[in-house]
Amino acid sequence: MAEFVRVAEVLECADPSSQLVEVDGEMVALFCVGGQFYALDDVCTHDGGPLAGGELTDHKVACPRHGAKFDIRTGAALSMPAVRATQSHDVKVDDGGVWVRLRSGKRADGPAAHGLGSIAPPPAPASQLPLAAAAPTTGTASEAPAPAAASTVSAILCEDSVREILKEVKDPELFVNIVDLGLIYGVTLSPAADAPDKQHVSVDMTMTSPACPAGPQLISDTKRAVGAHANVSAVEVRIVMDPPWTPDRMTDAARDQLGIF
Ligand code: FES
Repeated sequence: MAEFVRVAEVLECADPSSQLVEVDGEMVALFCVGGQFYALDDVCTHDGGPLAGGELTDHKVACPRHGAKFDIRTGAALSMPAVRATQSHDVKVDDGGVWVRLRSGKRADGPAAHGLGSIAPPPAPASQLPLAAAAPTTGTASEAPAPAAASTVSAILCEDSVREILKEVKDPELFVNIVDLGLIYGVTLSPAADAPDKQHVSVDMTMTSPACPAGPQLISDTKRAVGAHANVSAVEVRIVMDPPWTPDRMTDAARDQLGIF
């Protein structure tokens, strides 16, 4: 078993504070909150961000890279995009010093694949939209569909069918579609003013964190996917951060994919 290593002096640690220390050659984030000390691997399990440099709020530290939060007492991941805990370590105060002992064999995984490396991207699903099958495959975007088909498509386009389209849009880091992730807060359809057979689609979407790096791509992919529908005249994506996204918005299917139980 590893030994305790003296890493800091109690009187030199502000409360609250965080600092980077070295224990047996490993970089460890040491936190002081409420007179107690806590130690975690200095590794965000999302993509290797440095936790010692993150914003500390009560017993939570936010990764400075994409905002995932961890409980400094346990290492538990509290918010996306991290889904796995980072390793916590034993801490004691003795002889005026702060001592840390690595918990062996449970180091946090490496970057990027941390916790997600075992999740293989699922094969791209075939569109579940009846429209996709009914849409002409040889025509151009400017060609009007046959009247009968247009009538069928108009009847099919509804909030549910738009949500089915949105399942084709996946978070590029988690490989889970944005509907099952719980990112879609609302879908609104309204007749297009300049095209009676078409609809204007407005999608209210949130992000797993305000600084989500995948945001621009998700917006672009959403517009492209919904806009490909023959009866859509325009797509508007509104980013909504209130209420904030929380992991409990995910479906069971998303949890299964991410290995969260
Ligand atoms: S590396 Fe920490 S949230 Fe992305």
